[in-house]
Amino acid sequence: MSELIRLVYASQAAFKPAPVKQGVEPSVARILMQSRRNNSHENIGGVLYFGDGYFFQALEGDRKAVNQTYQRIAADPRHRDVTILSLKTIPHRLFADWSMKYVPVEQAVREFVRSRGYPHFAPLQFQEEEAEALIKLFHQQRSGDAADGGKKRGWFRPGGLLSFWGRRSVAK
Ligand SMILES: Cc1cc2nc3c(=O)[nH]c(=O)nc-3n(C[C@H](O)[C@H](O)[C@H](O)COP(=O)(O)O)c2cc1C
Repeated sequence: MSELIRLVYASQAAFKPAPVKQGVEPSVARILMQSRRNNSHENIGGVLYFGDGYFFQALEGDRKAVNQTYQRIAADPRHRDVTILSLKTIPHRLFADWSMKYVPVEQAVREFVRSRGYPHFAPLQFQEEEAEALIKLFHQQRSGDAADGGKKRGWFRPGGLLSFWGRRSVAK
């Protein structure tokens, strides 16, 4: 029987992020393109955040598909210290509509990190509860988007940061 799970992990980028005035860092943009293509085939959804040289990602979907995707991701030389922060069976998805959402929420993350007593974004040190709380924050951010009737799809500029939002392409 298939079982719905959410896996949250953090890692450190193995590349030096290129300075970008606007838009997504090019290496991260390539990862997002790969993710969206593969995840939509596997019916996997989720969210990816990149900050201060660290990745923080949630993958939601069927246990087997998520495990296989995670094994591939963990072996990717573009990052290291890949560490699972949370792994849960879930009754429903938080990111059902997204094959992989890139969250441009620097300010919200900065506030979250400060409120938890971290000097900077250090997701490898997060406790499970902190990882889950950040996922909920990203989910709230997503709900905020829905409120605009989807106008923010594609390229847009929230608070000066230009980011790409990809819509899940696969029909169930
Ligand atoms: C931080 C990070 C996140 C990634 N997320 C995903 C993902 O969600 N789905 C995915 O298929 N590949 C993801 N990848 C890429 C995989 O590691 C791997 O390169 C890719 O799945 C290979 O797919 P391909 O054989 O179609 O090129 C990620 C890589 C990194 C470094």
